[in-house]
Amino acid sequence: MDTVISKNNYIEIVDRLRNDCDLNDEKLSLLLLCEDIDVNEYLYSQAREVREKYYGKNVYLRGLIEFTNYCKNNCYYCGIRAGNNNAERYRLSEEEILSCCDLGYELGFRTFVLQGGEDPHFSDDIIVTIVKKIKQKHPDTAVTLSIGEKEKDSYQRFFDAGADRYLLRHETADREHYEKLHPADMSFDHRMQCLKDLKEIGFQVGCGMMVGSPFQKTESLIKDIRFLQELRPHMVGIGPFIPHHDTEFAHKEQGSVQLTLRLLSIIRLILPDVLLPATTALGTVDATGREKGLKAGANVIMPNLSPTQVRGKYLLYDNKICTGDEAAECIRCLSMRVEKTGYRIARSRGDHIFFEK
Ligand code: 5AD
Ligand code: FES
Repeated sequence: MDTVISKNNYIEIVDRLRNDCDLNDEKLSLLLLCEDIDVNEYLYSQAREVREKYYGKNVYLRGLIEFTNYCKNNCYYCGIRAGNNNAERYRLSEEEILSCCDLGYELGFRTFVLQGGEDPHFSDDIIVTIVKKIKQKHPDTAVTLSIGEKEKDSYQRFFDAGADRYLLRHETADREHYEKLHPADMSFDHRMQCLKDLKEIGFQVGCGMMVGSPFQKTESLIKDIRFLQELRPHMVGIGPFIPHHDTEFAHKEQGSVQLTLRLLSIIRLILPDVLLPATTALGTVDATGREKGLKAGANVIMPNLSPTQVRGKYLLYDNKICTGDEAAECIRCLSMRVEKTGYRIARSRGDHIFFEK
């Protein structure tokens, strides 16, 4: 017979998670599936308290520069996968990338994230040159790369050139699930190896997964959480899966906002000092999704700094927000939104800080 779980039992589970930064699989699974509004509110409030204990009211900005939508991979969920002949492809030139950074710097950004598909045109040499130039021009900024899977020596070269951080979502820590999201020429083991290499080299590392991606089970999410506990990344990027009309998953169900918010809070309680973005995907499925993310423990926002003429082309999923707005407009809009939540945008690099528990 199923044991009936009362609200108080759930509150105890949240308290235990906050105290121990851990839960057993059974309790994690109960919490992940719990839709009770009061319990969810309590979970968010605990995540907020922990986030404020470490980072106060600060929200850190990362200026996202989507510099190429060419990609050699064919991930089944992604709108810019190689096989999508309907995607209008573009690459920014070195000068365009640098002027995005200049504009961003003027707008107050102190972190730039160079994100792109896995585009062979951008050789290691080119990336190294771009990183060096950004750091030369703006030495008080952090440069983050998000350009996919490489070999360790390439990562080392980027690090030596001055790149500070690297984002590579693991996508799922469940091997079987990984194989349902990716074609056979992509390797779960290689992706995991990349994350280990990045950490060993000394990057501040971000990983993460989509919430509600096709074939994801509660057990997959538990594996994700166990993986986060093992890797201890500096940042975790999560957002709901959103179908893209030109992919195999066009008719799959969108990921849930509520589950994404619960996961944000759970991750905040498991890795108290982690950097946790309220993602664009969350803002796409819910008009105030990013604000809800901030209130559930997130402390980072990644506004788009890409030139307006290419924004509508970096479409990983349908209905992406902010594709028509100037960078300055997004900043105004976001500042207002952030302030309404009671937080404030911090004008610093927003490095990850290790806190003694
Ligand atoms: N829905 C939501 N997120 C997506 N991503 C890629 N495609 C989608 C989609 N359809 C995420 C992946 C990738 C990151 C850059 O965007 O997790 O790592
Ligand atoms: Fe881009 Fe609001 S954040 S318009």
